[in-house]
Amino acid sequence: MATFVAVGRADEVGEGEAKAFDANGTPVAVARVDGVLYAFSDVCTHRRCNLAAGGELEGTEIVCECHGSSFSIVTGEATSPPATEPIATYPVREVDGELQVEV
Ligand code: FES
Repeated sequence: MATFVAVGRADEVGEGEAKAFDANGTPVAVARVDGVLYAFSDVCTHRRCNLAAGGELEGTEIVCECHGSSFSIVTGEATSPPATEPIATYPVREVDGELQVEV
């Protein structure tokens, strides 16, 4: 059963930034756009590059640095090739300054 896992402090993720975290062994990225937190898989479905480390946020899409695929961080949908498979997205919340992701 999915449970919320504490991954770090909410203030580690600034506005317009994405940061990678380990949620009980699942590599997740958390981004903050217009004050809203989004959590999604940190692994590109094309050739498994990490998305948060070198990827670029463009609104609510993240662009993989390796070959330019982009994904919606809201739905996980692959919005630009070469990736065609979506990334997972996860519920995320902030509790007393702590970042929690449901995995
Ligand atoms: S690994 Fe992300 S676009 Fe190729």
